[in-house]
Amino acid sequence: MTDPRRILGIAGSLRKASYNRLALSAAQDLLPTGVQLDIIELDALAPFNQDTESSPAPALVAFKNAIRAADAILFATPEYNYGVPGVLKNAIDCASRPYGDSAWVGKPVAVMGASTGLFGTVRAQLQLRQSFVFLNMHPVNQPEVMIGNAAKAFDAQGKLVDETSLKLLRQLLQNLVSAIGAVRAPDRHPLKRAA
Ligand code: FNR
Repeated sequence: MTDPRRILGIAGSLRKASYNRLALSAAQDLLPTGVQLDIIELDALAPFNQDTESSPAPALVAFKNAIRAADAILFATPEYNYGVPGVLKNAIDCASRPYGDSAWVGKPVAVMGASTGLFGTVRAQLQLRQSFVFLNMHPVNQPEVMIGNAAKAFDAQGKLVDETSLKLLRQLLQNLVSAIGAVRAPDRHPLKRAA
């Protein structure tokens, strides 16, 4: 028996009935065998303050440990004002610091998003992908999973029922799992001084 592959799911919403958290729950039902998906909440993370980055609060230490323990990351992002919600950007920034001690480096990562609008978070997802460049993460490019009109895509019990979204999400998960092990260990940053 080998250990299961572990995906860490992060929703960029603190809302109890968040469609994006529900999308992560849907993903838990679509996983390939031998894969588990744990969802971590962002409520406990304080706003990032560079003055205190060298003495992180316990919640941030736990968050970074959870990222490091995961084989891959799955973000489910809302779109706020055509961009990534502050709570998610804050989490990304917090776990990327101090410089040289980012928890994100080298992780395979996939993105999806749900919004009540028509475009299903397309703009927020593109912003997230931009951050993956500097974070040195390994994004799965396809399929793009944009769950628009979320009030219809989920039923009254919060179950994702939109057939296209379910199909794309299943494929995204398969591609993310394939990326685990396919990516090389992170290169040292060329401009980082030797210890
Ligand atoms: C939104 N919403 C939204 N939707 C969208 O498609 N594009 C946008 O730019 C915005 N902007 C926006 C700003 C703010 C401050 C809020 C609160 C909402 C609507 C958004 O898609 C909807 O509230 C989702 O349900 C949010 O995701 P969760 O909380 O359900 O995961």
